[in-house]
Amino acid sequence: MKNETTVPAPGAPRQRGRVSRRMSGALRMFAALMFAGGLYLTFAPGVQAQGAAPMSDAAQAGQALYDTSCITCHGNNAQGVDGRGPSLIGVGSAAVEFQVETGRMPAARQEAQAERKQPQFTTDQARQLGAYIQELGGGPQLPAGEDFASKGKVSRGGELFRINCSSCHAFSTGGGALSSGKYAPTLTESTDRQIYAAMLTGPQNMPVFGDTELDPQDKYDIIAYVRALQDDQDPGGWGLGRFGPVTEGLAIFLVGVVALVFAALWIAGKS
Ligand code: HEC
Ligand code: HEC
Repeated sequence: MKNETTVPAPGAPRQRGRVSRRMSGALRMFAALMFAGGLYLTFAPGVQAQGAAPMSDAAQAGQALYDTSCITCHGNNAQGVDGRGPSLIGVGSAAVEFQVETGRMPAARQEAQAERKQPQFTTDQARQLGAYIQELGGGPQLPAGEDFASKGKVSRGGELFRINCSSCHAFSTGGGALSSGKYAPTLTESTDRQIYAAMLTGPQNMPVFGDTELDPQDKYDIIAYVRALQDDQDPGGWGLGRFGPVTEGLAIFLVGVVALVFAALWIAGKS
């Protein structure tokens, strides 16, 4: 290379010199920029914070699940995607466990209400997803353990349920219709953790019952009541959907009055 440049056409060396000086100037500038960029990358607060807090094993497993099943609607790092799914920053592991364990998530399509369906993930996977979202953005968490019902009092739970929940879910926890094609579902399949999570996170049209509205003991009482109704078999006869006095009255009216009418007709026909 050097030999070639030493025997150039006249006038050329000066040009070459200027070009190479410009080139090396640009190179030095580039190197300086790279250096500054590198410095910024290593010391910038955001990057350091991420590097400094490695995720737990559960959260890493959760992230892998998230990246295959949830990312299309909830976006990179759970920041949400316009028109597809909300941000999950701050919803907490309670919301994730509830949504995934009851099969509501991953949602199949946009509808009036994501419904309870056959879950696509095991309980462990739902908790890993929860751990990932929790470590990413924080939010409400469930207490440890599977059995909350035994910590509560059924009778007190019944009172609290009638005040706070029966307007939507009916006295008998059978559920009921709300406006615009939405409805409060029946609670017959909900587990202790799911009932707790529903109160804590208020899925979709359900209000949130934070610890100031219902403290943990209130929640245990309500769970005890709901579980007692789940286990309670109809003691005899026909439950009539347990909708209470209206259906019972209607049944008595229809069966009883029809029987009386036929009895009256029969008596009238005989005489
Ligand atoms: C087809 C799009 C779609 C997919 C896939 C999806 N979601 Fe959702 N998700 C939604 C929409 C829309 C909502 C909000 C409305 C609703 O709850 O129906 C939502 C709501 C949620 C909520 C409730 C947020 C809150 O504010 O309480 C959680 C938690 C959630 N999704 C978790 C997940 C997880 C975890 C996955 C993957 C296993 C997932 N979603 C997959 C669309 C989706
Ligand atoms: C304003 C009406 C409303 C009130 C009041 C209400 N809920 Fe709900 N609840 C809903 C709706 C709507 C859903 C369905 C949400 C969804 O599908 O994401 C729901 C869902 C639930 C579920 C999940 C059921 C399942 O699929 O496993 C539970 C459990 C629950 N509610 C318990 C309660 C309890 C306990 C209370 C009282 C502390 C209560 N709700 C008060 C409207 C209500």
